[in-house]
Amino acid sequence: MNGIAPVMARLRAETRDLHTRVEELPMFTALAAEDLPLASYVGLLRSLAIVYADLEAALASVPDTAVRSVWDDAWRRLPTLHQDLAHFQAHTFTETPVAELHAQVVAQQIRQRAVADPRSLLGYLYVFEGSSLGGSILRRQVVASFGLTPTSGLAYLSSHAAAPTAQWREFGGRMGKAPITATEQDRLVASAREAFTGMGQIVRALYPLAPEPRQQLVQALNPLAGTHPIPDDGREIQAALRAGEHTWREFPYYAWRYGARGEQFTRSDSAWLVTLAQHDEAIVTHQVRWLGRVLASRGMPQWLLELHLEVLHGELVAAVPERQAEYDRLRHASTMLRSMRHAHIDEAQFQELIAAFDQQVGPEWSMRLPRTGGLLASAVADERAGIRQAVPSIAEWMIDPTRFPEEWREAVSVTIEKARAGELGSMGRDARRVSSPQSALVAPGNYVLGLSQAVQATAQ
Ligand code: HEM
Repeated sequence: MNGIAPVMARLRAETRDLHTRVEELPMFTALAAEDLPLASYVGLLRSLAIVYADLEAALASVPDTAVRSVWDDAWRRLPTLHQDLAHFQAHTFTETPVAELHAQVVAQQIRQRAVADPRSLLGYLYVFEGSSLGGSILRRQVVASFGLTPTSGLAYLSSHAAAPTAQWREFGGRMGKAPITATEQDRLVASAREAFTGMGQIVRALYPLAPEPRQQLVQALNPLAGTHPIPDDGREIQAALRAGEHTWREFPYYAWRYGARGEQFTRSDSAWLVTLAQHDEAIVTHQVRWLGRVLASRGMPQWLLELHLEVLHGELVAAVPERQAEYDRLRHASTMLRSMRHAHIDEAQFQELIAAFDQQVGPEWSMRLPRTGGLLASAVADERAGIRQAVPSIAEWMIDPTRFPEEWREAVSVTIEKARAGELGSMGRDARRVSSPQSALVAPGNYVLGLSQAVQATAQ
């Protein structure tokens, strides 16, 4: 094929601004001036290994015809990154945890696309395949700066070095023949822009290297999160991110209502929850109850936190089995929330409310927001436990006529009424007697401030 395929022309034109911005970052200027520390280069390889692991696994496995017609397993570059990292293994370099955390977030975005919109991964592939064009310039600069050879830390940058433009033409030709509609092209462009933005964040964190990188970690997960601890161990971070992905997949309510900002808080909160596991059970309980009240007052009934803790526990035990005893404290906290829920609405009634809601709104709407009956019933249980805003904070959103049809709004009201009128579980009568409706609620206001306060309480 002569000429550039329309999809490639669009990708190039609509990401050019971001390419320019990445290319001009201080890391590349320092490299060109032979002034880059080797630690920054090694940090780049580590970060890319995190990204490529998920990108290449997704490209090789997603059931999408366009991806299958473009991707070739022979193009994998992860083995070259492992080869380079093995070369540097014997040496000690300044750590690059912030860049690696940004890489974990990019990897999460890739995993989410693999489930929600696999074809859009071609936008990511475009960016990383394209990077080998500039890569031949970088390769020369890396050789000049560090004197590396292909077998000593230069395998990744050498992978397409022999014929970068031939590989690029092959990729462009396949993209041109792939079945990609105009709307899908829009999504590929958005995905490529996301990839460039993520790469920009990684590269920015690699030069100049921060003297106290650990203080910036939480900001990499969520710029709005203030300062609170998150785990040091990359495996725990990944488990926290995976648990968040799971919760968001199970409850599209999160994405619909809270969008990108909510996603960032899910990342940082989930990571913060992991750090609780090192504390005594009493502190874990206290902090989880605190977070549960904050979230329930903002439209996220405690059932969501209960389920999240359960999934987080599973992910952590799978990732770091030797710390299971500590992680079990998070599962106990989930069990504690479940008991509190059952104290007010027993499981049979809870499930009945879920099924009745779905039946009332019909299959199309129940698929859009699955288990909404459970969210509402859980909000009522939270209200009975003394969280006064629990029901209004979700119900107001759920009965907004600009968002939902009449039958939906009717089902919301009916479910809340039924849950409020329902028979209590056997423990519930006692629980209701002891729980004061004036139970302390975290003062409304700045969530960030609230989490920082909780952290201080944990530290004391
Ligand atoms: C100092 C760093 C960089 C330099 C000097 C550089 C340079 C270049 C050059 C010379 C081209 C070929 C343009 C052409 O043939 O028309 C190119 C293309 C490209 N580069 Fe970079 N690049 C750099 C960094 C990056 C990074 C970090 C990425 C992404 C991770 C990237 C992604 C791309 C893409 C996607 C293309 C293809 C553009 C097209 O559609 O033709 N580049 N780059």
